[in-house]
Formats: sequence, structure tokens, C-alpha cells
Amino acid sequence: MNQLISGPCGKMRSPSSKEANVFHGNRVVAHTGVAYPIFQAPMTFIARAPLVAAVAEAGGLGLLETSSADLNVTTHEFTAIRKATDKPFGVNLPVQMLKRDLDEEKAIIAWLLDQGIRFVTTSAGDPSRYIEQLKNAGVIVYHATATLHGAIKAVAAGVDGVVVEGAESAGIRNPDEIHSFALLQAVRENVDVPIVAAGGIVDGRGMAAAFALGAEGVAMGTRFVASAESPVHANYKDAIVAAPSAGTLITDLPPRARFRGLKTEYAIEAHEGRRERRPTRSVLQDLYIDGDVDNTSGPAGESSGLIHKVETVRQIIDDTVSGFWREIDRLAALRDPS
Ligand SMILES: Cc1cc2nc3c(=O)[nH]c(=O)nc-3n(C[C@H](O)[C@H](O)[C@H](O)COP(=O)(O)O)c2cc1C
Repeated sequence: MNQLISGPCGKMRSPSSKEANVFHGNRVVAHTGVAYPIFQAPMTFIARAPLVAAVAEAGGLGLLETSSADLNVTTHEFTAIRKATDKPFGVNLPVQMLKRDLDEEKAIIAWLLDQGIRFVTTSAGDPSRYIEQLKNAGVIVYHATATLHGAIKAVAAGVDGVVVEGAESAGIRNPDEIHSFALLQAVRENVDVPIVAAGGIVDGRGMAAAFALGAEGVAMGTRFVASAESPVHANYKDAIVAAPSAGTLITDLPPRARFRGLKTEYAIEAHEGRRERRPTRSVLQDLYIDGDVDNTSGPAGESSGLIHKVETVRQIIDDTVSGFWREIDRLAALRDPS
């Protein structure tokens, strides 16, 4: 990863200046070294070389997932990203998944530190498991959490920033979580570190709203699943594009975690106990590879209803950045219409 850039702390310039897209004084940009404080969420199987490299090339922060807990996979993907781009990118460490195999966990962390990785996110577990080792190596660490309690705990453990996931988000969900509007403000009131907002964001309007609520960056998952560079079957992308605002469902199926996915016939029947829930693992083969939308419930956020076509990563990031500044200008004009 490139050297970190130091964050200039000057006054925000006029958006009409030559540097209209520069995020002055933004701590997420300073921590990551990317042009735009836009993260591509780490997603099992999806957040691998083609997507991560495309996000890096477009000026965002691609995050390589390591949930397979397999050093061969991680090495292969990492090397492919390095080959495809010289821009910064980061790595996600999902604590629960990695610690299932202690030897592999140790090997992955040691290997990553050897590569000079400068930015890591932790998720799904207690970040203090890795904090000392990562901080001693000079790595910037953000922790992803869906609760205020989780954010406060992570900051006490020494993380540099938090990714705050509202209940709109796709995938495995925590029963205690609340939606982003209230959650971001609550976290902002209680911690000083930079916040990256995740959940329900697909464009510049959502990004500007997240910034107003206290964030300094955004992470998008569902939006990037439905991107040209995402490796999943076209049926899954098309199903996200076709989904209405209420097109996702949270299913509670103990002992497995709650989960937000596409509201398919299968999801409704499994939710109502009329159909046996298929193993989470099977979604990879059945949906991501074979494109069976009907008999699965692909991870998808409430943001699905805001996604109207499959676009390239560069289009998504460029539109998000220009839309963000358009919203900022629109709001600034309330005070100064000149
Ligand atoms: C297909 C998919 C897979 C995901 N897999 C993971 C995962 O493996 N680990 C994780 O921490 N979060 C995962 N998430 C959640 C994202 O990290 C992120 O919090 C979420 O996508 C944000 O909401 P959004 O989808 O509305 O942008 C996944 C999300 C999607 C859409």
C-alpha cells in the first residue's frame, strides 16, 4: 500500500475551485491515502481482486475479504490486486471466522504484516484480538460495528476509526442494532474517531446525508454487488436492480444469525417456517455462481430499492463524488444563494 498521506487541515474550499473533489481535512482520506472516502464493503467471495482493484483505481478504498481463512486464497487475491493497481487498498479481518483455525489465523496476520499493509478493518468479533500486533506494525485499524456499545468498546480497545453499520445493511445483522439516522448521531456523540457510515448508501445524496449525521466516509456493499466488476452471476445483480424499496427481508432463524437478504419466495417461506433454511454456505454456489435467485436469499440491503442499473465501479464512484458535492452546494445555497 502507498504511504499514508497526511491530512491537510485547511478550510473547506469552494466546490467550484479546481480541486472541487478534494476532501480537505478529511481524516478517512488521511488514514487511507485514497482520493475519496468511499469504501467498498468487505464481502465474502465478492470483495476479491477484480472488485478491489477496480475500486482502488477509481479512487475509493477497496477492502479485500479474508473470510475463507485460507492463506493461499488471501495470497492469491492480494498478489492479483497488487499486479492490477499501485493504488492503496485495505484488508478486512473478520475475527470470528479467522479464529476458527488458529494456525491459519496466525499465518494470515503474519503474512499481511510482511506485505506492508497499512490499513485494516476488523469485523464480526472483538478487535482487541489483533490491535496490539497491528498497531505495533504501524497499521491503521477501523472496526466495523452495528451498535453504539460496539463502537465505544472498539475505540476503548484502541482502533483509529469505526465503520458504523445501520440496520438497513445487507447480510448478518445484530438484534440490537438501529437504523443509521439515529445510530450515526449516537456514535458521533460518544466517540472522537472518524466514522464511516454503512447501510442504505448508494450515491452522493446518501453520502452527504451520512456526513451531516457525523460520518467522514461511507461504505457501500449492495451497490458494488450490482457493479460490472462484481464476480457474481448476472441474475443476482439483476434481482438487486429489480428489487423495490421493501424488497429485502430480515430473517431470524436461531441458532443462526439474523440476516437481511432479497425478499424472494424462498426467503418468505423460510422466514415463516414453511421451508427449511439452506446452509449459508450454499448461497455461494447456488446464487453467486449458478444464479439461482428464486431458491436463495442473496445478501442485499434496503439500498437495493435505490439501485436502478448495473454500472461500472468507476461510474458509481464518479457519480457518488459529483452527487455528494452537488448536495453540499445545494445545502450551502440555503445560507448563501450567490
Ligand atoms: C453480498 C454481501 C455480502 C456481505 N458479506 C459480508 C461479510 O462477509 N462480512 C461482513 O462483515 N459484512 C458483510 N456484508 C455487509 C457489508 O459489509 C456492509 O455492512 C453492508 O453491505 C452495508 O450496507 P449496504 O449493502 O446497504 O451498502 C455483506 C454485504 C453484502 C451485500
